[in-house]
Amino acid sequence: MTSPAPGPLPADPADVDLLVDLAEHLAREAGRLVLEGRPHRPDVASTKSSPVDVVTQMDLASEALLRRLLAQERPQDAILGEEEGLLVGTSGVTWVLDPIDGTVNYLYGIPAYAVSVAAVVGEPDPARWTVVAGCVHAVADGRTWTAGLGRGAYLDGGRVAVNAARPLAESLVGTGFGYLSERRRSQARVLAEVLPQVRDIRRIGSAAMDLCTVATGGLDAYYERGLQPWDLAAASLVAQEAGASVVGLRGAPAGESMAVAGPPATARALVGILEALDADTDRL
Ligand code: IPD
Repeated sequence: MTSPAPGPLPADPADVDLLVDLAEHLAREAGRLVLEGRPHRPDVASTKSSPVDVVTQMDLASEALLRRLLAQERPQDAILGEEEGLLVGTSGVTWVLDPIDGTVNYLYGIPAYAVSVAAVVGEPDPARWTVVAGCVHAVADGRTWTAGLGRGAYLDGGRVAVNAARPLAESLVGTGFGYLSERRRSQARVLAEVLPQVRDIRRIGSAAMDLCTVATGGLDAYYERGLQPWDLAAASLVAQEAGASVVGLRGAPAGESMAVAGPPATARALVGILEALDADTDRL
Protein backbone atom coordinates (compact mmCIF):
# COMPACT_ATOMS: atom_id res chain seq x y z
CA MET A 1 0.00 0.00 0.00
CA THR A 2 1.62 3.29 -1.11
CA SER A 3 1.05 6.26 1.19
CA PRO A 4 0.36 9.70 -0.18
CA ALA A 5 2.87 12.37 0.83
CA PRO A 6 2.09 13.61 4.34
CA GLY A 7 0.36 16.97 4.07
CA PRO A 8 0.74 19.95 6.36
CA LEU A 9 -2.18 21.06 8.50
CA PRO A 10 -4.21 23.62 6.59
CA ALA A 11 -2.64 26.93 7.60
CA ASP A 12 -5.68 28.96 6.76
CA PRO A 13 -8.77 28.31 8.90
CA ALA A 14 -10.81 29.06 5.78
CA ASP A 15 -9.36 25.87 4.26
CA VAL A 16 -10.69 23.91 7.23
CA ASP A 17 -14.08 25.56 6.73
CA LEU A 18 -14.07 24.48 3.08
CA LEU A 19 -13.32 20.88 4.09
CA VAL A 20 -16.12 20.99 6.68
CA ASP A 21 -18.56 22.35 4.10
CA LEU A 22 -17.61 19.64 1.64
CA ALA A 23 -17.87 16.92 4.32
CA GLU A 24 -21.38 18.16 5.13
CA HIS A 25 -22.40 18.32 1.47
CA LEU A 26 -21.16 14.77 0.89
CA ALA A 27 -22.82 13.37 4.02
CA ARG A 28 -26.15 14.99 3.14
CA GLU A 29 -26.06 13.74 -0.46
CA ALA A 30 -25.30 10.18 0.66
CA GLY A 31 -27.92 10.51 3.42
CA ARG A 32 -30.56 11.42 0.85
CA LEU A 33 -29.67 8.34 -1.20
CA VAL A 34 -29.73 6.09 1.87
CA LEU A 35 -33.10 7.42 3.04
CA GLU A 36 -34.89 7.59 -0.31
CA GLY A 37 -33.45 4.26 -1.45
CA ARG A 38 -34.30 2.33 1.70
CA PRO A 39 -36.43 -0.65 0.72
CA HIS A 40 -39.32 -1.56 3.05
CA ARG A 41 -37.23 -4.50 4.25
CA PRO A 42 -33.60 -4.08 3.20
CA ASP A 43 -31.68 -7.25 2.36
CA VAL A 44 -28.23 -8.24 3.53
CA ALA A 45 -25.94 -7.99 0.48
CA SER A 46 -23.00 -9.73 2.18
CA THR A 47 -21.35 -10.29 5.53
CA LYS A 48 -17.87 -9.34 6.71
CA SER A 49 -16.13 -10.40 9.92
CA SER A 50 -19.00 -12.65 11.09
CA PRO A 51 -22.57 -13.59 10.04
CA VAL A 52 -23.92 -10.64 12.06
CA ASP A 53 -21.54 -8.09 10.49
CA VAL A 54 -23.77 -7.14 7.58
CA VAL A 55 -23.48 -4.99 4.47
CA THR A 56 -26.62 -3.80 2.65
CA GLN A 57 -26.86 -2.69 -0.98
CA MET A 58 -27.23 0.85 0.34
CA ASP A 59 -23.90 0.71 2.22
CA LEU A 60 -22.31 -0.05 -1.14
CA ALA A 61 -24.34 2.52 -3.08
CA SER A 62 -23.72 5.23 -0.49
CA GLU A 63 -19.95 4.71 -0.52
CA ALA A 64 -19.94 4.59 -4.34
CA LEU A 65 -21.77 7.93 -4.44
CA LEU A 66 -19.35 9.51 -1.94
CA ARG A 67 -16.40 8.29 -4.03
CA ARG A 68 -17.93 9.65 -7.25
CA LEU A 69 -18.56 13.07 -5.69
CA LEU A 70 -15.03 13.20 -4.28
CA ALA A 71 -13.55 12.24 -7.64
CA GLN A 72 -15.33 15.29 -9.11
CA GLU A 73 -14.55 17.72 -6.29
CA ARG A 74 -11.07 16.68 -5.11
CA PRO A 75 -9.54 14.10 -7.44
CA GLN A 76 -6.10 14.46 -5.85
CA ASP A 77 -7.21 13.32 -2.39
CA ALA A 78 -7.00 9.80 -0.98
CA ILE A 79 -10.12 7.95 0.18
CA LEU A 80 -10.47 5.34 2.93
CA GLY A 81 -13.94 3.84 3.06
CA GLU A 82 -15.49 1.07 5.12
CA GLU A 83 -16.63 -0.97 2.12
CA GLU A 84 -13.96 -0.36 -0.55
CA GLY A 85 -10.78 0.34 1.40
CA LEU A 86 -8.02 2.77 0.42
CA LEU A 87 -7.67 4.75 -2.79
CA VAL A 88 -4.26 6.40 -2.77
CA GLY A 89 -4.03 10.16 -3.42
CA THR A 90 -1.32 12.77 -3.81
CA SER A 91 -2.52 15.81 -1.82
CA GLY A 92 -1.93 14.61 1.77
CA VAL A 93 -5.67 14.81 2.50
CA THR A 94 -7.59 11.56 3.00
CA TRP A 95 -11.38 11.31 3.19
CA VAL A 96 -12.50 8.72 5.72
CA LEU A 97 -15.98 7.43 4.94
CA ASP A 98 -18.58 5.39 6.77
CA PRO A 99 -21.40 5.13 4.22
CA ILE A 100 -23.86 3.88 6.88
CA ASP A 101 -22.79 3.74 10.50
CA GLY A 102 -25.46 1.73 12.26
CA THR A 103 -26.12 -0.72 9.45
CA VAL A 104 -27.99 -3.14 11.72
CA ASN A 105 -30.37 -0.32 12.74
CA TYR A 106 -30.81 0.50 9.04
CA LEU A 107 -31.62 -3.13 8.31
CA TYR A 108 -34.34 -3.17 10.98
CA GLY A 109 -35.69 0.36 10.44
CA ILE A 110 -34.46 1.63 13.81
CA PRO A 111 -33.83 5.33 13.13
CA ALA A 112 -30.27 5.56 14.49
CA TYR A 113 -27.95 5.38 11.51
CA ALA A 114 -25.67 7.99 10.03
CA VAL A 115 -23.34 8.85 7.20
CA SER A 116 -19.93 9.85 8.52
CA VAL A 117 -17.41 11.83 6.45
CA ALA A 118 -14.06 13.12 7.71
CA ALA A 119 -11.07 14.82 6.12
CA VAL A 120 -7.74 13.88 7.71
CA VAL A 121 -4.22 15.05 6.92
CA GLY A 122 -1.02 13.03 7.05
CA GLU A 123 -0.51 9.40 6.20
CA PRO A 124 -3.70 7.36 5.85
CA ASP A 125 -2.94 5.67 9.17
CA PRO A 126 -5.25 6.46 12.07
CA ALA A 127 -2.35 6.35 14.55
CA ARG A 128 -0.62 9.17 12.68
CA TRP A 129 -3.20 11.29 10.93
CA THR A 130 -4.93 14.44 12.21
CA VAL A 131 -8.64 14.82 11.66
CA VAL A 132 -9.30 18.38 10.45
CA ALA A 133 -12.96 18.30 9.38
CA GLY A 134 -15.91 16.04 9.95
CA CYS A 135 -19.63 15.65 9.49
CA VAL A 136 -22.00 13.04 10.93
CA HIS A 137 -25.44 13.16 9.34
CA ALA A 138 -28.15 11.19 11.14
CA VAL A 139 -30.13 10.15 8.12
CA ALA A 140 -33.53 9.36 9.63
CA ASP A 141 -34.10 12.59 11.56
CA GLY A 142 -31.69 14.85 9.66
CA ARG A 143 -29.59 15.92 12.66
CA THR A 144 -26.19 16.98 11.36
CA TRP A 145 -23.10 17.43 13.47
CA THR A 146 -20.07 19.23 12.01
CA ALA A 147 -16.66 20.16 13.35
CA GLY A 148 -13.45 21.70 12.09
CA LEU A 149 -10.14 21.45 13.93
CA GLY A 150 -9.96 24.46 16.24
CA ARG A 151 -13.30 25.69 14.90
CA GLY A 152 -15.76 24.15 17.40
CA ALA A 153 -18.49 21.55 17.10
CA TYR A 154 -21.98 22.24 15.83
CA LEU A 155 -25.35 20.52 15.64
CA ASP A 156 -27.49 21.89 12.82
CA GLY A 157 -25.41 25.06 12.87
CA GLY A 158 -25.61 25.70 16.65
CA ARG A 159 -22.49 25.40 18.79
CA VAL A 160 -22.51 22.40 21.14
CA ALA A 161 -20.62 21.40 24.28
CA VAL A 162 -20.34 18.31 26.44
CA ASN A 163 -22.01 18.12 29.83
CA ALA A 164 -20.18 19.31 32.91
CA ALA A 165 -18.39 16.33 34.45
CA ARG A 166 -20.51 14.37 36.93
CA PRO A 167 -19.49 11.50 39.17
CA LEU A 168 -19.64 8.25 37.21
CA ALA A 169 -22.49 7.08 39.44
CA GLU A 170 -24.57 9.90 37.93
CA SER A 171 -23.27 9.52 34.36
CA LEU A 172 -25.24 8.06 31.48
CA VAL A 173 -22.75 6.00 29.49
CA GLY A 174 -23.05 4.75 25.92
CA THR A 175 -21.27 1.71 24.60
CA GLY A 176 -21.37 -0.77 21.74
CA PHE A 177 -20.34 -4.30 20.89
CA GLY A 178 -18.29 -5.91 18.16
CA TYR A 179 -19.43 -8.58 15.75
CA LEU A 180 -17.33 -11.51 16.97
CA SER A 181 -18.71 -13.84 19.68
CA GLU A 182 -15.42 -14.02 21.61
CA ARG A 183 -15.13 -10.24 21.74
CA ARG A 184 -18.75 -9.93 22.81
CA ARG A 185 -18.20 -12.35 25.71
CA SER A 186 -15.37 -10.18 26.94
CA GLN A 187 -17.38 -6.98 26.36
CA ALA A 188 -20.24 -8.50 28.39
CA ARG A 189 -17.80 -9.21 31.25
CA VAL A 190 -16.67 -5.57 31.23
CA LEU A 191 -20.23 -4.29 30.98
CA ALA A 192 -21.27 -6.37 34.00
CA GLU A 193 -18.70 -4.45 36.06
CA VAL A 194 -19.37 -0.99 34.58
CA LEU A 195 -23.18 -1.07 34.76
CA PRO A 196 -23.44 -1.08 38.59
CA GLN A 197 -21.09 1.93 38.75
CA VAL A 198 -22.94 4.33 36.41
CA ARG A 199 -26.38 5.96 36.12
CA ASP A 200 -27.28 3.63 33.25
CA ILE A 201 -26.03 2.28 29.94
CA ARG A 202 -27.26 3.06 26.41
CA ARG A 203 -26.49 1.08 23.25
CA ILE A 204 -27.55 3.32 20.35
CA GLY A 205 -26.04 1.14 17.61
CA SER A 206 -24.03 3.78 15.78
CA ALA A 207 -20.65 4.66 17.23
CA ALA A 208 -20.57 7.95 15.34
CA MET A 209 -23.91 8.95 16.82
CA ASP A 210 -22.77 7.84 20.29
CA LEU A 211 -19.78 10.17 20.11
CA CYS A 212 -21.86 13.02 18.69
CA THR A 213 -24.45 12.45 21.43
CA VAL A 214 -21.66 12.91 24.00
CA ALA A 215 -20.82 16.16 22.19
CA THR A 216 -24.37 17.45 22.68
CA GLY A 217 -24.82 16.21 26.24
CA GLY A 218 -27.30 13.40 25.47
CA LEU A 219 -24.78 10.99 26.95
CA ASP A 220 -22.23 11.87 29.62
CA ALA A 221 -19.63 9.45 28.30
CA TYR A 222 -19.05 6.58 25.90
CA TYR A 223 -16.63 3.69 25.54
CA GLU A 224 -16.20 0.92 23.01
CA ARG A 225 -13.57 -1.62 22.03
CA GLY A 226 -13.11 -2.53 18.37
CA LEU A 227 -13.99 0.69 16.55
CA GLN A 228 -12.65 1.15 13.04
CA PRO A 229 -11.18 4.41 11.71
CA TRP A 230 -14.37 5.25 9.78
CA ASP A 231 -16.49 4.83 12.94
CA LEU A 232 -14.26 7.24 14.82
CA ALA A 233 -12.80 9.86 12.49
CA ALA A 234 -15.53 12.50 12.05
CA ALA A 235 -17.31 11.91 15.35
CA SER A 236 -14.16 11.98 17.48
CA LEU A 237 -13.43 15.48 16.13
CA VAL A 238 -17.01 16.55 16.90
CA ALA A 239 -16.65 15.23 20.46
CA GLN A 240 -13.22 16.82 20.96
CA GLU A 241 -14.30 20.17 19.59
CA ALA A 242 -17.26 20.01 22.00
CA GLY A 243 -14.82 19.69 24.91
CA ALA A 244 -14.57 15.92 25.31
CA SER A 245 -11.43 13.92 25.92
CA VAL A 246 -11.35 11.13 23.35
CA VAL A 247 -8.68 8.67 24.45
CA GLY A 248 -7.64 5.04 24.67
CA LEU A 249 -6.35 3.17 27.72
CA ARG A 250 -2.84 3.28 29.21
CA GLY A 251 -2.00 6.55 27.44
CA ALA A 252 -2.84 5.25 23.97
CA PRO A 253 -4.86 7.33 21.55
CA ALA A 254 -8.45 6.30 20.94
CA GLY A 255 -8.51 3.49 18.42
CA GLU A 256 -9.42 -0.07 17.76
CA SER A 257 -8.24 -1.39 21.13
CA MET A 258 -10.41 1.11 23.03
CA ALA A 259 -12.06 4.52 22.66
CA VAL A 260 -13.34 6.45 25.68
CA ALA A 261 -15.03 9.84 25.37
CA GLY A 262 -16.49 12.32 27.84
CA PRO A 263 -15.76 15.48 29.76
CA PRO A 264 -12.11 15.09 30.84
CA ALA A 265 -12.78 14.17 34.48
CA THR A 266 -15.49 11.67 33.53
CA ALA A 267 -13.32 10.14 30.81
CA ARG A 268 -10.45 9.79 33.32
CA ALA A 269 -12.68 8.01 35.83
CA LEU A 270 -14.01 5.67 33.15
CA VAL A 271 -10.50 4.98 31.84
CA GLY A 272 -9.48 3.98 35.39
CA ILE A 273 -12.28 1.43 35.64
CA LEU A 274 -11.68 0.07 32.13
CA GLU A 275 -7.93 -0.28 32.69
CA ALA A 276 -8.53 -2.22 35.90
CA LEU A 277 -10.81 -4.54 33.94
CA ASP A 278 -8.33 -5.01 31.06
CA ALA A 279 -11.13 -3.83 28.81
CA ASP A 280 -8.64 -3.30 25.98
CA THR A 281 -8.19 -7.08 25.74
CA ASP A 282 -10.60 -9.88 24.86
CA ARG A 283 -9.91 -11.76 28.08
CA LEU A 284 -12.85 -13.52 29.73
C1 IPD B 1 -21.00 -0.37 14.00
C2 IPD B 1 -21.78 0.61 14.82
C3 IPD B 1 -22.02 0.05 16.21
C4 IPD B 1 -20.75 -0.33 16.91
C5 IPD B 1 -19.95 -1.29 16.05
C6 IPD B 1 -19.70 -0.69 14.68
P1 IPD B 1 -21.41 -0.34 11.35
O1 IPD B 1 -20.70 0.18 12.72
O2 IPD B 1 -21.07 1.82 14.93
O3 IPD B 1 -22.68 0.98 17.06
O4 IPD B 1 -21.06 -0.92 18.14
O5 IPD B 1 -18.73 -1.49 16.72
O6 IPD B 1 -19.00 -1.62 13.89
O7 IPD B 1 -21.03 -1.78 11.20
O8 IPD B 1 -22.87 -0.16 11.53
O9 IPD B 1 -20.84 0.56 10.31
